[in-house]
Amino acid sequence: MRAKMYEIVKAEKLTPDVIKLEIKAPQIAKKAKAGQFIMVTPTEHGERIPLTMADFSPEKGTITIAALEIGKTTKELGTLKAGDKVFSLVGPLGLPTHLHNFGNVVSIGGGIGLALMYPVVRAFRQSGNHTINIIGAKNEKLLIYEDEIKTVSDEFYVCTDDGSKGHHGFVSDVLKKMIAENKKIDLVYAVGPIIMMKVIANITKPHNIKTIVSLNPIMVDGTGMCGSCRVIISGETKFGCVDGPEFDGHAVDFDNLTARNRRYMPEEAVSLKKWQGAK
Ligand SMILES: Cc1cc2nc3c(=O)[nH]c(=O)nc-3n(C[C@H](O)[C@H](O)[C@H](O)COP(=O)(O)OP(=O)(O)OC[C@H]3O[C@@H](n4cnc5c(N)ncnc54)[C@H](O)[C@@H]3O)c2cc1C
Ligand code: FES
Repeated sequence: MRAKMYEIVKAEKLTPDVIKLEIKAPQIAKKAKAGQFIMVTPTEHGERIPLTMADFSPEKGTITIAALEIGKTTKELGTLKAGDKVFSLVGPLGLPTHLHNFGNVVSIGGGIGLALMYPVVRAFRQSGNHTINIIGAKNEKLLIYEDEIKTVSDEFYVCTDDGSKGHHGFVSDVLKKMIAENKKIDLVYAVGPIIMMKVIANITKPHNIKTIVSLNPIMVDGTGMCGSCRVIISGETKFGCVDGPEFDGHAVDFDNLTARNRRYMPEEAVSLKKWQGAK
């Protein structure tokens, strides 16, 4: 199979397990919008995986991705350096974030979700919103995109599970406090682990605060053909790749998403072991 190769112009480790790659892809960079993703195939015989664009610059003709190295393909990406080439990129895919001047927008991100959150909160700010951003990670060393998010924040809160920086506890604690203090919130946007998005949606639902979540179902083609990314929204089946990845958090069946994302765990473990053995 022949594919256009995409040159990595910059490679950086944000944490020991998170790689950030800036890749030359002028056609994608020209069309990219906040909230969209690309399908990445690192090597000719590798698998396609979806990764959100953590940034894009039509001027430089580059896009930036940040990947948490959890399995074979993301670990393979983690070995790439500036000057190396990525075998294939397809995108931009998915619906962009719906932008509007909502008013006070509280955006909440956790873990690798912080890289995905950055272009979205930047776009919310460019649309005239008052941006209240809450970021969290297990500890201070795992907080990524903190400076970037801070620059597009009107209000900014940091949380760590172990208390090494900011609030000692979860991002949801800060949101709960804001609601208890009757802070005016017109929209909540959440991106991060499924459990975090579920908790946030459960907090805002009784208060009728519109809540958007960015979902991460398993995707194969990313273009609406295979059905792998099925999610249940208000009891109806939707495709994460073409109907999302962002959905109304109050309508998502999070338990179904969690169960579906675990369905290839044995195969994923075998694939990682084989790749590690072959290196
Ligand atoms: C729209 C979207 C955007 C995403 N953006 C990012 C991002 O910016 N940064 C990031 O680190 N991760 C992102 N992810 C998750 C990322 O795609 C998976 O972590 C990656 O596919 C794991 O592949 P692997 O081979 O390294 O790990 P594996 O061992 O194969 O899988 C580890 C876990 O990742 C998930 N996963 C595996 N394959 C896929 C797949 N094809 N599609 C989706 N999830 C999968 C499963 O839950 C699995 O249990 C995104 C997912 C989606 C759907
Ligand atoms: S990934 Fe195949 S339909 Fe969405």
